[in-house]
Amino acid sequence: MLVVKDVEAGYGAIQVLKGVDLEVKQGEIVTLIGANGAGKTTLLRVIAGILSPTQGEVIFEGEKITRIPCHKIVEKGIFLIQEGRAILKKMTVLENLLMGAFSCSDKNLSQPLDVVFTMFPVLRQRQRQLGETLSGGEQQMLALGRALMAKPKLFMMDEPSLGLAPILVNEVFAKIRELKSDEIGILLVEQNARKALQIADRGYAIEIGRIVLTGTGEELRSNEKVQEAYLGGRRGKRQN
Ligand SMILES: Nc1ncnc2c1ncn2[C@@H]1O[C@H](COP(=O)(O)OP(=O)(O)OP(=O)(O)O)[C@@H](O)[C@H]1O
Ligand SMILES: [Mg+2]
Repeated sequence: MLVVKDVEAGYGAIQVLKGVDLEVKQGEIVTLIGANGAGKTTLLRVIAGILSPTQGEVIFEGEKITRIPCHKIVEKGIFLIQEGRAILKKMTVLENLLMGAFSCSDKNLSQPLDVVFTMFPVLRQRQRQLGETLSGGEQQMLALGRALMAKPKLFMMDEPSLGLAPILVNEVFAKIRELKSDEIGILLVEQNARKALQIADRGYAIEIGRIVLTGTGEELRSNEKVQEAYLGGRRGKRQN
């Protein structure tokens, strides 16, 4: 579904990504783990068309999408939930959800709304409430719901658990697991590597702009290097 080939990208003179290869197949949850500043967000920006790579290419459903403007990429079915919960605070829950469907040509919105409300009953209850008055966890659910309204084929999430209390983190991960279906691919960037690897089919570890390890979620979780670098070694094992 998505193939990233030898991508190099950065900001001005600063090169961040140094030849990244990555793949997401339809129906898969793939996670990208790495330390702060490794280049995770930068890679998502390249795939979403927000940032142009200086080398390499991005292929989606067999078509080269490198350097296509980001609104066109959204139309192709690639949706990115950016870091820090991109919801519209001064709009109600319902308005936020309808905005999510803005780019999809299908004008019958009651069906996708039903899907979202079934998955997130809290959003049905709160549909008239302003986005900013939702709790952190509810705002994350709204961001997921809003993205679902656009019926994405490839769903990318940048740190969806950031800043959430542990109980909400579990809830968000459970919902991401529920989103998994044969039709969509999910690319999940997470600091919470343990949780991400638990729900992922496959994962990649990125270090200063290079992919250093890849494998199934299970393989990476039991990998010693991953445990040391991303799961906090033995100490980390007690956490969850
Ligand atoms: N707009 C920008 N201008 C200049 N440098 C940037 C910009 N955005 C990111 N960088 C730099 O690029 C590098 C990679 O940043 P990126 O945001 O991709 O990291 P990340 O892996 O997502 O980290 P985190 O886990 O902290 O979110 C960092 O050194 C960062 O300072
Ligand atoms: Mg980031």
